Amino acid sequence: MNIDDVQGDLTTVLFTEEQITNRINELAAEIDRDYDGLQPLLVGILSGAVMVMADLSRAMRIHCEMDWMAISSYGSGVASSGVVRILKDLNISVEGRHVLIVEDIVDTGLTLAYLIDNLKSRNPASIEVCAGFRKPDAASKNVPVKYLGFDIPGDFVVGYGLDYAGRYRNLRGLGVLDPAVYS
Ligand code: PRP
Repeated sequence: MNIDDVQGDLTTVLFTEEQITNRINELAAEIDRDYDGLQPLLVGILSGAVMVMADLSRAMRIHCEMDWMAISSYGSGVASSGVVRILKDLNISVEGRHVLIVEDIVDTGLTLAYLIDNLKSRNPASIEVCAGFRKPDAASKNVPVKYLGFDIPGDFVVGYGLDYAGRYRNLRGLGVLDPAVYS
């Protein structure tokens, strides 16, 4: 789906597909350098990270493995505690592996804090994070995102894996959703 297809639903186009691709390619080159000879295990967090994972992994020139986790935050009242439930765990053991968590967006940072803790307890050789986008909340808290695509405003954004009510994940590019769509 192209920006043109949903232009009326967006107030702003933050990044085109080309801008995102260029940045992902830069991150892939950094990761290639940092993980040369280490065959990192990329851990994608479903569902939003599918697009970043697909583009990042194919832009990389070194060997890697890929695995996936699906998690669910508890209801809004409990969400601030960062308590999440694992719906699908990894198939591959992370013990002794160089783990790179791949996320679409870091918003409050609570999901990542939980994931890092959880995966650290499984004795990986190292653990780092690559995320497509980061919102101001996480930026101000210094959530450890070593490989970051872009810092973005706090608005409700869709596209490139990010959804509203299950839609817009397949939108090329990233845009701010018009509040009229969800109010
Ligand atoms: C999004 C995103 C992260 C999380 C970030 O997932 O993919 O996993 O929220 O938010 P936080 O920094 O405030 O914890 P979401 O729960 O929307 O699920 P989805 O990936 O399936 O859309």
